[in-house]
Amino acid sequence: MAPLDASEIGLRPMLDSDVATVRALNVLVQPSPWSEGFLRDQLERLETNTNLVVETDTGTVVGHGSLAVVADEGHITSVAVVPTCQRQGVGARLVAALCRDARARGLTAMTLEVRTSNEAAILLYRRFGFAPAGIRPAYYCDPNGTTTDALVMWLHDVDDPVFLGLIGAEF
Ligand SMILES: CC(C)(COP(=O)(O)OP(=O)(O)OC[C@H]1O[C@@H](n2cnc3c(N)ncnc32)[C@H](O)[C@@H]1OP(=O)(O)O)[C@@H](O)C(=O)NCCC(=O)NCCS
Repeated sequence: MAPLDASEIGLRPMLDSDVATVRALNVLVQPSPWSEGFLRDQLERLETNTNLVVETDTGTVVGHGSLAVVADEGHITSVAVVPTCQRQGVGARLVAALCRDARARGLTAMTLEVRTSNEAAILLYRRFGFAPAGIRPAYYCDPNGTTTDALVMWLHDVDDPVFLGLIGAEF
């Protein structure tokens, strides 16, 4: 795929018609990809779940991100970018949008789990101010039978001006 032009990609809510594409994207980049049924279930829970896609101006979905609300916290539950479009700002755009969504929902903190081995994702989340807060041993059980520890990351100050600048939110 040719390099992405930032002006030619856009964010939008994920639709039911995106489920197969997002499932295929997950299969490409996630060790334990979500099933179509799980993705559909998430889409129905509008009060507690946000699912976004990044799409090119020709209608190709190149990224997916999701947020789940638990009490007054926003949990980033997945961010996935098509391999040929990685390192071009798509993941950052998704994380920023999920953070804006969390603020719009009035949530007071954000958290996520990420594989301790996933340096790229950890650096992505760190860029937005998420800080490591602990390890959940053997949190991920993959289809091949292996387990991987999760790093738990938190962002507590959702009103921090630096954070707001990073996510492009109103002060
Ligand atoms: C992690 C992932 C979502 C990043 O998406 P991306 O579109 O490539 O990320 P961006 O281009 O927006 O990068 C933003 C920042 O993240 C960090 N980053 C992203 N990929 C990186 C890599 N391969 N190595 C080091 N840092 C990386 C960098 O800090 C980067 O900023 P920079 O490009 O200015 O250095 C993508 O690699 C992916 O889909 N991986 C597989 C699925 C996954 O691991 N998801 C996260 C856990 S659910």
